[in-house]
Amino acid sequence: MLGQAPDVMSGLDRDLKKVFVKTYGCQMNVYDSERMMDALATAGYAAAETAESADLILLNTCHIRERASEKVYSELGRLRVLKGEAAEAGRKVLIGVAGCVAQAEGAEIMRRAPAVDLVVGPQSYQRLPALVADAAAGKRSIETDFAVAQKFSVLDGLPRGEESRRLDREATRDKNYSAFLTVQEGCDKFCTFCVVPYTRGAEVSRPVAAIAAEAQRLVAHGVREVTLLGQNVNAWHGEGPDGNDWGLGRLLFHLAEIPGLDRLRYTTSHPRDMDDALIAAHRDLPALMPYLHLPVQSGSDRILAAMNRRHSRADYLRLVDRVRAARPDIALSCDFIVGFPGETEADFADTLSIIDTVGYAAAFSFKYSPRPGTPAATQADQVPEAEKSERLQRLQASVNRHARVFNASTVGRTAEVLFERKGKRPGQIVGRSPWLLPVHVDASATLIGTIGRVVIETLGTNSLNGRLAAPAAEPRIPLPMEATA
Ligand code: 5AD
Ligand code: SF4
Repeated sequence: MLGQAPDVMSGLDRDLKKVFVKTYGCQMNVYDSERMMDALATAGYAAAETAESADLILLNTCHIRERASEKVYSELGRLRVLKGEAAEAGRKVLIGVAGCVAQAEGAEIMRRAPAVDLVVGPQSYQRLPALVADAAAGKRSIETDFAVAQKFSVLDGLPRGEESRRLDREATRDKNYSAFLTVQEGCDKFCTFCVVPYTRGAEVSRPVAAIAAEAQRLVAHGVREVTLLGQNVNAWHGEGPDGNDWGLGRLLFHLAEIPGLDRLRYTTSHPRDMDDALIAAHRDLPALMPYLHLPVQSGSDRILAAMNRRHSRADYLRLVDRVRAARPDIALSCDFIVGFPGETEADFADTLSIIDTVGYAAAFSFKYSPRPGTPAATQADQVPEAEKSERLQRLQASVNRHARVFNASTVGRTAEVLFERKGKRPGQIVGRSPWLLPVHVDASATLIGTIGRVVIETLGTNSLNGRLAAPAAEPRIPLPMEATA
């Protein structure tokens, strides 16, 4: 509404309760935290800047490795103190634990951390307002039931207009030109090291119409690049408007038709779900950025089998060849686990050699972490910690070498960069190259939100520096005297 008096606004603000969400883990959690805020906005909660100023503090947790879940308990220790201090000052603060640790260890959290008022798993965020109301009334509850789960209901069940109101709120706070959009949740793959199928449940795809509607709303709010998210994003499938069953490739073509949606990305993919249509999209769809995160986890066939990855090293390398044939300049990135139970030095050497064969532009690498309830956790032949650390160091040195080679190969090229923000230095702006690396350019901040052609000039530590390319030359029209000469 126009012309609302400032004192009225602050009066409203005072009435609103404040929620602070602290997010751990993957992009999916970042996205979910925003959906939790949406659900709570309908119950009269506004965002707090800090935990200290909040009436409700939510931890959106990650259970993927042991270190990630340990962080939750130490944070809960700090929050217990904060809650106690607030109570002494006569202020009631509620504490909630959400996300994958909540799903996996809900009862344990309630037992170990009496300051926690509610526990809610990723399938149940639509129930947050009710759970918070219960907590305010003094009832501690755990909501981690898959049976009542309605995935995406927070996304697709919001009251009409609320999604737009959220985007308005975000747009005024922090303008984003690149955004995430969840299209798929859960996983049916059951890699033997991974908790995701247990914490996030079975694979579910979000319907095309809901995805397209959210993409359109994002674009209406100035977003020009969307990254489709899913634990197994390329397992996404759904009925298209033509009545046929679509895979991710078709979905990408469909979304690219939205005017103003200039760039598309997706993550994270499983090698078994890279179908022909998706590979063809990398060849034929200019909006699809030349970047593919394709985890292999290990280069050893023996370990791949023990991990239940259901593909061999040769299958993976064939796939890489097909993707590269479709899009020769594609940047490939990967996840690796070192020290999976039974991994010998020879198995590890196979992992190092697959890195050399593929030449990744980037990679995330982890020491194997036994997760409760997963098959690999109880295998007898666990690798000693010191060996895992030593292998991780060697692997990361190799990955860094290849990343530098890839990044250096972009120097001298002209690339389209979506400028997203000001740089640290005055007069500098920053955007991402098609290959995802930040690119710094000396140029006017008025270009932020536009896509410009940049000549990549030098390689920084984890970024590139470039200059705006001269505008494409106009066809030269001969001057009249030249024409008569
Ligand atoms: N130990 C170490 N790394 C793991 N990942 C998943 N589970 C484990 C585990 N138990 C890694 C995988 C996955 C990434 C998201 O996290 O590499 O691709
Ligand atoms: Fe976990 Fe494997 Fe599923 Fe990825 S594909 S989420 S690693 S079980």
